[in-house]
Amino acid sequence: MECEGRTSRLDRERVERLGSPLARRVELYAEVSSTQERARELAREGAPHGTLVVAGVQTGGRGRLGRAWSSPAGGLWMSLVLRPEIPATHAPRITLAAAVGVAKALREMGVEAEIKWPNDLLVGGRKVCGILAEAGFGRSGELEFAVLGVGINANVDPASVEGLGGTSLRAELGREVDLVRLLAAMLGGLEVELARLNDFEAIASDWRSLSCTLGRRVRVRRAGGVVEGLAVDLGPDGELVLETGDGRVALFEGEVERLR
Ligand code: BTN
Repeated sequence: MECEGRTSRLDRERVERLGSPLARRVELYAEVSSTQERARELAREGAPHGTLVVAGVQTGGRGRLGRAWSSPAGGLWMSLVLRPEIPATHAPRITLAAAVGVAKALREMGVEAEIKWPNDLLVGGRKVCGILAEAGFGRSGELEFAVLGVGINANVDPASVEGLGGTSLRAELGREVDLVRLLAAMLGGLEVELARLNDFEAIASDWRSLSCTLGRRVRVRRAGGVVEGLAVDLGPDGELVLETGDGRVALFEGEVERLR
């Protein structure tokens, strides 16, 4: 299958030739409901580490916190089956490592990507990439697999994604991006970061330098209500540490809004 466009073509041969350990097995779709759902199915069936599902269009793309993820033609929509050898308690590191790996890959392509906690990638304050990491646990609570979904607004119209809050690589760079090169850069970045999941401080330190959340006053909406404060650190389990009027609070989920 080949997806539209010339430089933006996602053709099977080029994807298979990448030779990445994170693309040992590849499923490429012109259109699929959600690469995340397909990769999860494959993981449950025993697909190996490095099984990659990529699609030109998703008709039922999923985002964080149960939201829909707009996935028109021109974007890079992919999910990876991972089987990292880490304790289940370290699973949250996957999402932080992924944000660092993809941010570095985008920077190599000339886009000044920054990380908004927990793992949104922004350029100039606008979202260019979303990351969704989901874990599958075995009977004894061990981490059996993780499915890492990455959606990059590559060659799409910013108006077609995330309403007014989104941007795309094409809009930022002023040119079309070669989707297979982008995929290669991303898999390269992910490979490096995922290889050091057991060294949380290394990942956290890079995360902190790439973050546009730390040092800012923020409002976080989460299931338990709204909290405001100064974002002061990233905790050992990926939590955002806020300095509030009532002391320090650690947040494990939520949507961050930066305040002036
Ligand atoms: C977010 O809400 O920011 C996370 C968005 C994750 C979207 C990606 S696109 C590829 C994969 N398939 C999905 O259905 N979702 C993820």
